[in-house]
Amino acid sequence: MTSPKKGKSENGFRQLQLNAGELLAALSYATDITPSASHFHSWRVALVAERIAQTVQTNHRRDVFLAGLMHDMGAVGAYRHITHYRTIRQQLEDIQVRAHAQRGAAMVEWLPGMHAVSEYIANHHEWYNGGGYPEGKVGNQIPIGSQMILIADVLDIVGCFRSLASLRSTLPSMADLTGCAWGKEIWQTFVHSLEDSDFCASMADPEALPVLIKNKVSELGIPETLNGEEGTERVLHLFAALVDLKDPSTLGHSLRTARRARKLAEYLKLSTEEMKMAYRAGLVHDCGRLGIEGSLLNKSGRLTVKEMDTVRKHAEMTIRIFASLPDCPDMHDFGYIAGHDHERWDGKGYPDMLAGEDIPLISRIISVVDAYDSMVASNEYRLLTPKGALVRLEQNAGSQFDPQIVKVMIEAVKNGHMEEEVRPAA
Ligand SMILES: [Fe+2]
Ligand SMILES: [Fe+2]
Ligand SMILES: [Fe+2]
Repeated sequence: MTSPKKGKSENGFRQLQLNAGELLAALSYATDITPSASHFHSWRVALVAERIAQTVQTNHRRDVFLAGLMHDMGAVGAYRHITHYRTIRQQLEDIQVRAHAQRGAAMVEWLPGMHAVSEYIANHHEWYNGGGYPEGKVGNQIPIGSQMILIADVLDIVGCFRSLASLRSTLPSMADLTGCAWGKEIWQTFVHSLEDSDFCASMADPEALPVLIKNKVSELGIPETLNGEEGTERVLHLFAALVDLKDPSTLGHSLRTARRARKLAEYLKLSTEEMKMAYRAGLVHDCGRLGIEGSLLNKSGRLTVKEMDTVRKHAEMTIRIFASLPDCPDMHDFGYIAGHDHERWDGKGYPDMLAGEDIPLISRIISVVDAYDSMVASNEYRLLTPKGALVRLEQNAGSQFDPQIVKVMIEAVKNGHMEEEVRPAA
């Protein structure tokens, strides 16, 4: 992993400017990530749907694009990745998938100024003939932006965009869905948009997609309401909410870690900017878990060594998520901080075996509060009292943890500054 540029403060901290639009693109990438690659489903859907909107919904291109990015995020808790549910019947049989459009829409409502986007997401599985879900809406009851997303979605799931050849071979059978899944006019507009063969070829190119997404985010921008500190933070909260959805057994862990990281940063007398960054990185520190199979995260009992290795990949996946767009150095550095919380002071951690002060200070802070929360909030057999957790932290100071940070953490806990509501043990 490339180390971020060292900044001007004495502990190497550099102030980072995060952009909500770029973060939403990274969030979208996170819903499609796997330990070795990405499905790129949501990115392709966003680009293809926006392409259709260029002709018929020019004033709503941004909303269509953003809805495309987030259309399936409500499905991260499903047993398999959403693209494996090919038919409506399969989708309705899995409760997580059946609910994903409404759930995703509700999550997007958390972002200010995104009501239209939320509507597009809520309706992206409605079919023109009433055969879709969740409400069985018909014809013009379905927002046109949702139909654009549906076309892009259905075609991507059957593999149309894998290559120009597969596009040519599958298009005729997809055309048969006109009048059933979507209206005739919108289909014709879509077919017209395919005349740009460069665009179609780039849909199949994992090297081209990040550049296209980055350029589209820059071109379309984000709603004014999202353009500020609060908007940025709300997007980061969405990352935490998705991790909770993926693995409800650790519900609230990201938020508690974020709050405690901020408090510990304050106790360590760090700057306001560093406290803010500790909170933000805490919110997303586990987002790489979105790409780990749910069956592994939820497995009861011991994991095998191989399974453990896979789960550990979540740290480098967190870094990858924030490095998914080119030329976004601040977001990249943010991911570097958030994804290095499993490094150890003695250099035996992961993913990069960094040691001592080579580990970013905020990562070292998150490492301590993360471990503390896992000990006091775990619903598994290793539930400890705060006192017991402090003993464990102390035992591992100087090997796993930065000893100075552990010292301050102990003081903060003893002074009652680390109390967070935790879910009662099951
Ligand atoms: Fe969907
Ligand atoms: Fe989809
Ligand atoms: Fe983690």
